[in-house]
This record gives sequence, structure tokens and C-alpha cells, in this order.
Amino acid sequence: MNKNLSIGILTSGGDSPGLNAAIRGVGKAAIGTYGMNVIGFLNGFRGLMEDRTMDLNGGALSGILTLGGTILGTSRDKPHKMPVGGQLLDMTDAMVEVYHKHHLDALVCLGGGGTAKNAYRLAQKGLNVITLPKTIDNDVSGTDVTFGFDTALGIATEAIDRLHSTAHSHHRIVVVELMGHNAGWLTLGAGIAGGADVILIPEIPYDVNVVAEAILRRLRRGSPFSIVAVSEGAVPKTLHEEMEALRQKLDKSEKGKGNKKSSKKKIEEQLLALETKRTGHSLQLAAALEELTRLESRLTILGYVQRGGTPSAADRLLASRLGTACAGFIANGKFGVMVAARGDGAEAVPLADVVGKRKVVPLDHPWIDSARQIGICLGDVN
Ligand code: F6P
Repeated sequence: MNKNLSIGILTSGGDSPGLNAAIRGVGKAAIGTYGMNVIGFLNGFRGLMEDRTMDLNGGALSGILTLGGTILGTSRDKPHKMPVGGQLLDMTDAMVEVYHKHHLDALVCLGGGGTAKNAYRLAQKGLNVITLPKTIDNDVSGTDVTFGFDTALGIATEAIDRLHSTAHSHHRIVVVELMGHNAGWLTLGAGIAGGADVILIPEIPYDVNVVAEAILRRLRRGSPFSIVAVSEGAVPKTLHEEMEALRQKLDKSEKGKGNKKSSKKKIEEQLLALETKRTGHSLQLAAALEELTRLESRLTILGYVQRGGTPSAADRLLASRLGTACAGFIANGKFGVMVAARGDGAEAVPLADVVGKRKVVPLDHPWIDSARQIGICLGDVN
């Protein structure tokens, strides 16, 4: 086991409850159990590039377990595409220099799929990198779960509970949009836990007529209100089909030879236009449901409340467990890995197996089966 090591920690990507618990877990175990020296880099990979640090050896790790956000700050900056002086520059070499300047033996990067990708770039430059999976989206491949997810699930479920009583009193449809990027974990989980009547996730393109029919069926049975939980990344079937056709066209044009550049660019522009159309689909959904059902309809976008504030007990535990395991892996010279949650323990999964993959909800997942058996409409069939 290595002694007297120095490690750096940074947090990157969207903030997530449990980040401070994880920083504390890594730091306390690194210092207390393994006698390491620990520094933090501010604001994600930007702080590593700019050499902006925070000493984590003193009292900095005390009193942060229950805090939301991250004491280190975060950003979505990427090492190879860093906005510098109005340009996007590859700053990976500058980061490697800062790492060596501090005589670091390892760099711990706390983040989601994007962070793993960025950390992997630094690993390929020879740095000893190790990542921890955080995100409210729960979409990181190779880990059972990510920290932040449980807290967001609780907040979103409580919001749906609260929307129920107002929807019920006013005999309205309440469409509630949840985060999750292109994965439906949060919406499906909170939708089931909160008793939503309709759940729309990116993995299952929806038909608005099917949704309207489910709501009308409830009305005929004496329930003139409905809760529709919809993922920000959900997509109407028609739009999905248009996008798929364009993706196939793009694929063909990429494989084709000759000067297909202009047609490729055109298809990419068309795809982007459809992506833009997809953003804000919840508002159109609420309006369409009002028209189709003649019931008053309202939209609530939960937004950033889902990832702000105090982490749940489960997230504190998970983040602490993965954090302390991370310190152990570093002490044993295990690098180029993500500290994955596996059952009650932690496992080192090679970053090469994690990057470029996204864990979406499998169509045969027990949550989907359970939702259908309860009678929840998932927007595809009634
Ligand atoms: O990845 C977490 C997340 O909250 C997603 O659910 C959401 O799509 C995205 O971040 C929002 O990102 P930003 O903070 O950049 O607006």
C-alpha cells in the first residue's frame, strides 16, 4: 500500500445532492486512514486548468455532509474544448502541467457520464484518474445507481403528491415535467411513487391521442383529474419517427463516399431543428390534452429544485461509501477506473467500459412492467 500520497479532487457537470458527502468521504478516508494530502480544484476542469485550489486538509471537510451543491463549485467545461478568450481550446496539456506542479499521485473527478469522458481524456495523457458517479439522472453506465438520484426522486415524488390535491380540487390535468436528460429513471420512479396516471419517458415515444384517451377513460370512471409525469427528454411518436429517419439518412451519408459534405450538413441542421422542437414539448402536450379532452390543463416544470438542497440519507450513505472506497482504491494504486456501486459494496470499473455509454431504462425493466400492471398509461398503448 502506498503512503504519503497527494491527491486532487474536483466536481464537474451539473451539481447533485451528495457531492459534498462524497468529497468528505474521499477526503476523510484519504487523510485519516491513508495519511494522504488532499487539495480541491475549484469549478470543475476549469479550476484544474487555472490552478485554482482549496486546501481540504484542515477543517474544510467538517460540517459539509448535509450541504447541497458542492463546496468546490462546478462547471460544464471540457478539457479539450475549453472556452478561453472567445475560443474553444484544447487545454488538456495545461491541466497535466498543473497536476504535476502539485506532485499529485491521483485526481478524483466527481461527475456523470460527461465527466467520466473528460477524466478518461486526462487518463489517456498519463494521469492517475479515478471517478465517482453522481447525477440525479441515474444514467451512468456500469454502476447500480448514482448519488443524487435518490434525493431528486424524493423531491419529485413530493411535488407530484402536492400536485395531486390541487389537480383533484380543480378537476384539472396537471402535466409535470421532470429532469433526467435522455433517461427516464427519475420520471418513471417518481411517477410510480407519486401515483401519476400517465408517465412519459424518452425510452417510449408517446402518442398524444393515447394519452388523451387514458385521461378520458379516467373521466368516464368518475375521476375528472389526471397527473401526467413527463420527462424533459420524452418525445412524441411523430417527432421520434422524423428524427429516426433523419438519423438513418445521416448514417448513410456518413458511410457514403464522394462530396456528400453539403447534404450531411443539411441533415444535421434539420435534426437540430427537430431537437429544438422537442425542447418545450411539455407545453404543447398540456395544450393538446386540453383540446382533446376538454379538461382544463396546467403545466408545472420542476426544474432545478430537483437537484438543489439537502441530500437524502440514502444519498449521504452512498456518497460516503463510494468516497471511502475511492480512497482505498487510490491507496492500492487502482487508476483509470470509476468507483461503481455494486450491491452493498463498491467495484472499480475501467473507465474505458463506461465512457460513451448511457444507462437508459430497459423496456423490460421491472418498473415498466409494474407501472403497466398498476394501470399507468405510458403513452404507447392503452
Ligand atoms: O444532468 C443533470 C441535469 O439536471 C439534467 O437532468 C438536465 O437535463 C441538465 O442537468 C440541466 O443542465 P444545466 O444545469 O446545464 O441546465
